[in-house]
Amino acid sequence: MKRIFSGVQPTNNIHIGNYLGAIKNWVELQKDYECIFCVVDLHAITVYQKPETLRQNILDIAKTYIALGVDPRHTIIFVQSDVKEHAELAWILNSIAKIGEMERMTQFKDKAKQHKENINMGLFDYPVLMASDILLYDTEAVPVGEDQKQHLELTRDLAMRFNKLYGDTFTVPKPIIKKEGARILGLDDPDKKMSKSSPSAMNYVSLLDAPEIAAKKIMKAVTDSGSEVKSGKDKPALTNLLTIYSLMTGRSVKEIEIEYAGKGYGDFKKGLAEIVSDFLADFQRKFNATNDNEIRELLSVNANKARVLAEKKMDQVKRKIGLK
Ligand code: TRP
Repeated sequence: MKRIFSGVQPTNNIHIGNYLGAIKNWVELQKDYECIFCVVDLHAITVYQKPETLRQNILDIAKTYIALGVDPRHTIIFVQSDVKEHAELAWILNSIAKIGEMERMTQFKDKAKQHKENINMGLFDYPVLMASDILLYDTEAVPVGEDQKQHLELTRDLAMRFNKLYGDTFTVPKPIIKKEGARILGLDDPDKKMSKSSPSAMNYVSLLDAPEIAAKKIMKAVTDSGSEVKSGKDKPALTNLLTIYSLMTGRSVKEIEIEYAGKGYGDFKKGLAEIVSDFLADFQRKFNATNDNEIRELLSVNANKARVLAEKKMDQVKRKIGLK
């Protein structure tokens, strides 16, 4: 079976845009792939995190994966810093990554602008650590959002460069980027991606929002001019809401448009609000049913499984380079 690897940073709790754009796909990919999903805590600290909050967020992300349907019996869910080889391989890949190619990374440029007071080496090196995550496990495909495409290109380049210099060692991974849902937009600003760092909480629905609050946010979502429930280039807000509706229910946008033909935005939003709040209630029930100690135990067992694979790959890498 082909292997996929992906990761999410334990920085803040997840919103429905993250779910529909990423984790929902992971859940589906479990059927056809051997999956490894990682809580990338070493990536998170490239921006200052309060230690207590980080500790809890790491557990919460793992609980979130499971409550959303990642099945820990078949899928390895683990914490990046539990497997030292990630940092070790990053150092080695640093020696073949060029400053020039790193300087072109648009996420680094954006983050450097956002965190002017702390443009640290980790932030600059972030994509090399991500490449290490992926390459350690002979990953064949990486499901990511559109914004990570450039990092994946870099990963491929580093893998090919290493293979050329030292002989065949790394599998060159391919991205899996789902067009639909890859960009869920802000509810109050459908020009930009839904984001937790948006100035208004009306922008997003967090998976841990109380279902009534989520329903309110949907009811208050910005709409387009006109009154027809239709998607299209001239209707960015409705297209976004229809996409959410469609991904949440598994029904096509066309079908939903037909259902709401002749009805107004109000009816449609009411329908969507109910779907989203039911989804959240169900998610939160599962999320709250797992306790922190169970998760700690599970993460420790899974880290052991990941470590076996990572150690084997590192051994190979060190031999190729002449470190062993
Ligand atoms: N950089 C990714 C993001 O911000 C998270 C990530 C880290 C990742 N390592 C990864 C994603 C490896 C896929 C594979 O979304």
